[in-house]
Amino acid sequence: MDYAGVDGRRTDGSAAGEDGDVVEPLSAFSDRAVASDPELYEAFAEEGPAAWRRAADLLDWETDYETVLDDGDPPFYEWFPDGRLNAAANCVDRHLDERRNQLAIRWFGKRGERRSYTYLDLHREVNAVAAGLRDLGVEEDDVVTLYLPMIPELPIAMLACARIGAPHNVVFAGLSAEALATRIDAADSSYLVTCDGYYRREDAFNQKSKADNARLRADADLSATVVVDRLGDTLDAPLGDDEHEYEAIVDAHDGETVEPVARDATDLLFVMYTSGTTGRPKGVEHATGGYLSHVAWTTRNVLDVRPDDTYWCAADIGWITGHSYGVYGPLSVGTTTLLYEGSPDYPDRDRVWDLIERNAVSVFYTSPTAIRSFMKWGAEYPEAHDLSSIRLLGTVGESITPKAWRWYREHVGGGEAPIVDTWWQTETGAISLATLPGITPMKPGKVGPPLPGIDARVVDEDGEPVDPGEPGYLAIAAPWPGMLRGLREGDERYRREYWVEGEDGWRYRTGDGATVDEDGYVTILGRVDDVINVRTHRFNTAELESAIVGAEGVTEAAVVGDGDGKIVAYVTTRGDVDPDESLREAIGGRLARAVGDVARADRIVFTPDLPKTRSGKIMRRLLEDIARGDEFGDVSALRNPEVVGEIESAVREM
Ligand code: PRX
Repeated sequence: MDYAGVDGRRTDGSAAGEDGDVVEPLSAFSDRAVASDPELYEAFAEEGPAAWRRAADLLDWETDYETVLDDGDPPFYEWFPDGRLNAAANCVDRHLDERRNQLAIRWFGKRGERRSYTYLDLHREVNAVAAGLRDLGVEEDDVVTLYLPMIPELPIAMLACARIGAPHNVVFAGLSAEALATRIDAADSSYLVTCDGYYRREDAFNQKSKADNARLRADADLSATVVVDRLGDTLDAPLGDDEHEYEAIVDAHDGETVEPVARDATDLLFVMYTSGTTGRPKGVEHATGGYLSHVAWTTRNVLDVRPDDTYWCAADIGWITGHSYGVYGPLSVGTTTLLYEGSPDYPDRDRVWDLIERNAVSVFYTSPTAIRSFMKWGAEYPEAHDLSSIRLLGTVGESITPKAWRWYREHVGGGEAPIVDTWWQTETGAISLATLPGITPMKPGKVGPPLPGIDARVVDEDGEPVDPGEPGYLAIAAPWPGMLRGLREGDERYRREYWVEGEDGWRYRTGDGATVDEDGYVTILGRVDDVINVRTHRFNTAELESAIVGAEGVTEAAVVGDGDGKIVAYVTTRGDVDPDESLREAIGGRLARAVGDVARADRIVFTPDLPKTRSGKIMRRLLEDIARGDEFGDVSALRNPEVVGEIESAVREM
């Protein structure tokens, strides 16, 4: 991993720790908060891993666990290894006694449709789909790939897989056929659930043709494909012999019950592909018991969610935030989770506020990218709605500026709701750093201290803690329940990618740079590896750059985020090639094919050369500064400093 470039700057471009404010929780909130005992921090510190029983005991176990953590073979840690449970039974069945008629899912579609599922409805459909999948041949431990947009069939299919012990492999619906094929092969998956298409604003997109294409490209032979009829028409193309209509499956198995399969806590619940330090995505594996415990505990204690809430996590289920806090977290604690398929500005820019008002949403969890858009659109949109139902606000995915933090609290939180700025990753599975909203004071712009039981530290290259205010690497020095249990690519890759053995034990590398203040509050500075977070998606720069370089006439490319949710690609071309509009289109097309529309380059800057160190490494940090319009330091150490001025003016002229 490249550790160069931690420079004390935040991912949003402002200076670290620029705002010294401390915001105390209000008693109106604290008095009723789920986590209200300040001793929690000490209790976790004193009890060690055993303290995490509090999380595991939020779940129903088929066989009780005796061991909390087996750390005999680091870094291959096992949480609750002798316990057995089923994730779907925890998210659905166990709520039937107390709240069978309570809504589990409220769904709002792109065309104004609505659907609601009580826990009883959810139970019925999850069982029918589970029975249907079994009928198609899915057995315990078979990986099922789900390629669906934000429709209720996605969480239902996830839970149906969990019920029969078949790990799911959700692929974000906006990814391309090529990306889907790679993930089907890498996960060694023989089953696919997809849909005919989906809507984006007024337009219908053909998802099935992407899936068909992926099938042609994939090495794996899919044994069966299930197709949801999302577009409402009869499916355009007749289905093949090994293709089945989702609705027909539900009808055929309606009323059947499938006994939830008791899984070892360490058995795989799902795999999620994410970008890492190489061009190929990594298959992050999450185990059933530790993951669900950590997710349930943080949904309760950080997001303060209770069963009688209507809770909305705006993230797409195709990524980890939607898995943990759109599906497993809220359903495991028995609340009502709102799912929204549409865009935040369609039909108008008040869509989000309208949904919050109409559904009396009490906890709202979104990203700084979304908050930045809300700010740009203006406070008049939230102000036109009664948002008094909001009790707590959350943010995740990148740093939030103190300014955006204040705007969010003032205009969405009525000036009173606590904001939890939650830091975590696909790999950590669940929230790892955040304030406990009823206990811990907030500092706008800083994520806060590690949660109780999470030994996160900001360290130097040798693993020594850095002084307050000094930039270092965010590391986690002890295992935690939500942690990935490994990588699909194998133990060696898992160890190499994430772990360092230090004098005092094994240390997990997060890939983030950070600072910590005197009170132990962490400020995230951004990634120190080749991963960029843009528009809440995570990309590996090499993955995007290799797609661009494949365009005819392109010689080199470097991709950065501009700090405002956009991707900027710097591209050099062969001397005889005219860098014109058609080349831009070709590059756009290659990115869309290799990754998907989500990877579109918002700006393509043609430049005669890329700034390089004397050893030939592209200076991405410098390119990022230029993209953001930030000041940058001395460039004389570059091999080709003269190119910097040219690049700057090319960017300015765009
Ligand atoms: O760089 C950090 C950033 O998002 C990365 C993880 O991305 P992903 O696995 O896609 O998961 C995103 C949602 C959990 C981290 O390494 N990140 C996440 N949360 C924050 C953050 N950066 C700053 N502040 C946060 N609250």
